[in-house]
Amino acid sequence: MAHVRSLFFEGPLAGVENKALTAYQLGRPSEIIWNITDRCNLRCDHCYMAADGHAREEQLSDDETIALVHQMGEAGVPILFLTGGEPLLRANFWDILTEAREQDMNVTISTNATMIDAEVARRLKSHGVDYIATSLYGPDDFHDAMVGVPGTRARVVEAIRVLRAEGVGVAIKSAVSRDTWPHVYDLIQEAKDLDAGLIYLCDLITSGRSEGEEGERVTSAEWRELADFILEDMLDPDSRLEYDIGALPSVIPYLAEKLLERGHDVSRALERLTIMSACPVGKGHMSINSEGGIMPCQFAQDWTVGNVRDMTLDEAVRELFELDALEPSGQCGPCEYSRICRGCRTKAFHEFGDPMGEDTTCILHAEGDRAPLKKAVFAAASAGAPCAMGGCT
Ligand SMILES: C[S@@+](CC[C@H](N)C(=O)[O-])C[C@H]1O[C@@H](n2cnc3c(N)ncnc32)[C@H](O)[C@@H]1O
Ligand code: SF4
Ligand code: SF4
Repeated sequence: MAHVRSLFFEGPLAGVENKALTAYQLGRPSEIIWNITDRCNLRCDHCYMAADGHAREEQLSDDETIALVHQMGEAGVPILFLTGGEPLLRANFWDILTEAREQDMNVTISTNATMIDAEVARRLKSHGVDYIATSLYGPDDFHDAMVGVPGTRARVVEAIRVLRAEGVGVAIKSAVSRDTWPHVYDLIQEAKDLDAGLIYLCDLITSGRSEGEEGERVTSAEWRELADFILEDMLDPDSRLEYDIGALPSVIPYLAEKLLERGHDVSRALERLTIMSACPVGKGHMSINSEGGIMPCQFAQDWTVGNVRDMTLDEAVRELFELDALEPSGQCGPCEYSRICRGCRTKAFHEFGDPMGEDTTCILHAEGDRAPLKKAVFAAASAGAPCAMGGCT
């Protein structure tokens, strides 16, 4: 999802965002998130992948992974995330990384960091990895209980230190749920203390080991409180932390409204959002699972449009673009923010088996605690933005 600071202000990741936007406008995948393995050395109790020690039966072979990276290069993919499971557990991880860098892709590793020591950090740096993203959930005992392996948190913090010492950028990721909510603000502070450039906060995805746990999500009112905190932090001239919000696109129009209220010009952000909406499904964003399944979103591993074994990436991206032509239903359909937000399509897939269903977790239209919408103000501010479908301006 959108890097919030870079979207509304000239944030540190504006360059990366521009690369993704340009690729999308050229009809290419804007970024690929690739679960190169389902194997993991941790057992996080919330894991949407339900990752454990086993690889999937039909996992791509080493040769297939290298051929796929070649194809990504030919398709002009600018940004690649290698994730899992635990990506460093895949035996040919370094070969995949080397090939991806040779194809000139910007590569971020999404890892639990338990396998990163000073030597691995140096190796990542020498392979041209600018960023790794790793997870923290709360204090030592809480974190270790959540991931199921004692001593993990201390290793993650040490890994962050050695990565920063090598000059590798670090993003801290956390899942926002009833369990982690008491620790969220401390994690934001810790991200700053550890010199992380970004914090990614993802609303709970109810699949894998979190299946059926909708009641474990925090409320819309709590998310609005967190969004208000993020807004203040972005306006603080001493803070540089970038924020990314996962699986809750309605945070973006919520923040746009708040910034407008305070007299900020959000027209550049709105213009961008009419092209690349807050939910990236159908906008060139592509995920690939460890068996080669091509997914509109990594958070729904069984929602696939084909497989790299029988479909080219060019064909796949065209298939994904078609999702963008479909109108969401329920409150997301008539919503004035429909084109720039779209609602979380993966939550709709999980809840209704229909990816174009309603996003029932919207923080603007939440049942019972509806926040006031400011249609007139918003319409005036977005009047100059080009139509996302083209041809109307
Ligand atoms: C699936 S893991 C893969 C990378 C690596 N193993 C790690 O844990 O960082 C990627 C991210 O997804 C997050 N995640 C896992 N299950 C989730 C869920 N049910 N809801 C939201 N985020 C989740 C994890 O916290 C982690 O930050
Ligand atoms: S969240 Fe990451 S570290 Fe935890 S079990 Fe899943 S894949 Fe492994
Ligand atoms: S109703 Fe749907 S499209 Fe509108 S703001 Fe909420 S989540 Fe986004």
